[in-house]
Amino acid sequence: MSLSVVPAATVYIVGVGPGDPDLLTLRAVKVLERCAVIFHPGPRNDSGFALGVVVPLLRSDQVIRGAELAMRRGPDDGTVGYERVAQRLAHEARQGRPVAFLTEGDPMLFGSGSYVAAQLRSIAPDVPVEIIPGVSASSAAAARLGWPLAQKDEILTICPGTYHSDEIGAILDRGGPVCWFKAAAVLPRLVEELRRRDGLNRAALIERIGHPDERVFLDISQALLVDLSYFSLVLVRSHTQVL
Ligand SMILES: C[S@@+](CC[C@H](N)C(=O)[O-])C[C@H]1O[C@@H](n2cnc3c(N)ncnc32)[C@H](O)[C@@H]1O
Repeated sequence: MSLSVVPAATVYIVGVGPGDPDLLTLRAVKVLERCAVIFHPGPRNDSGFALGVVVPLLRSDQVIRGAELAMRRGPDDGTVGYERVAQRLAHEARQGRPVAFLTEGDPMLFGSGSYVAAQLRSIAPDVPVEIIPGVSASSAAAARLGWPLAQKDEILTICPGTYHSDEIGAILDRGGPVCWFKAAAVLPRLVEELRRRDGLNRAALIERIGHPDERVFLDISQALLVDLSYFSLVLVRSHTQVL
């Protein structure tokens, strides 16, 4: 008697871009069409930032699951909740069901998808994993402003602000363009350091880029007066960029 073994289906780590469904890649759309189960980072099954981007594409026969990741402030080792998510994804794939894990922007740029993929490689080497790149919020912000992220010999810094609040001045003093992720929490310090360097006119803040409630602040000191979402970034361009 031979036991039939179902080959594991693929886990797709899908970058959904910054928020506008038009910025999904064709590959992401095709893969989502084929997935039986869609996981997204968020405590609820039915709502979440990344889920909101793809919800218009999903069918009623596709199962949607929230995957709570216990985000911690400050440095962590990247394993908070990711192994649990990887186990759930591997379980679905081993039943023969193609499954997606959504990540906002690009999964490999500060994305939770990068940690989930690493956990999968470690705990479920039998399960094929494919990573679908997405448009990063940094690229979308540059396009919105018409500011290059980097030109010619420039070195672009992409800095998660909350982890480097004491280095803001030093990073600005390098002189190259900077994209500040997680900018809301460090905005007062960033404004102060930019003002000290006469650099406020080279900075812009974009909140929820690509969403219907997107806000753009060309004077980032004005953003100090409002409640900002976590989904806010600041671009600082260099003196020498050609606009
Ligand atoms: C953990 S990082 C994830 C970056 C994402 N993987 C990407 O490629 O864009 C989260 C930070 O990205 C920025 N971000 C992500 N999506 C955004 C959006 N739609 N609008 C503005 N900033 C966004 C914010 O600075 C947020 O704090």
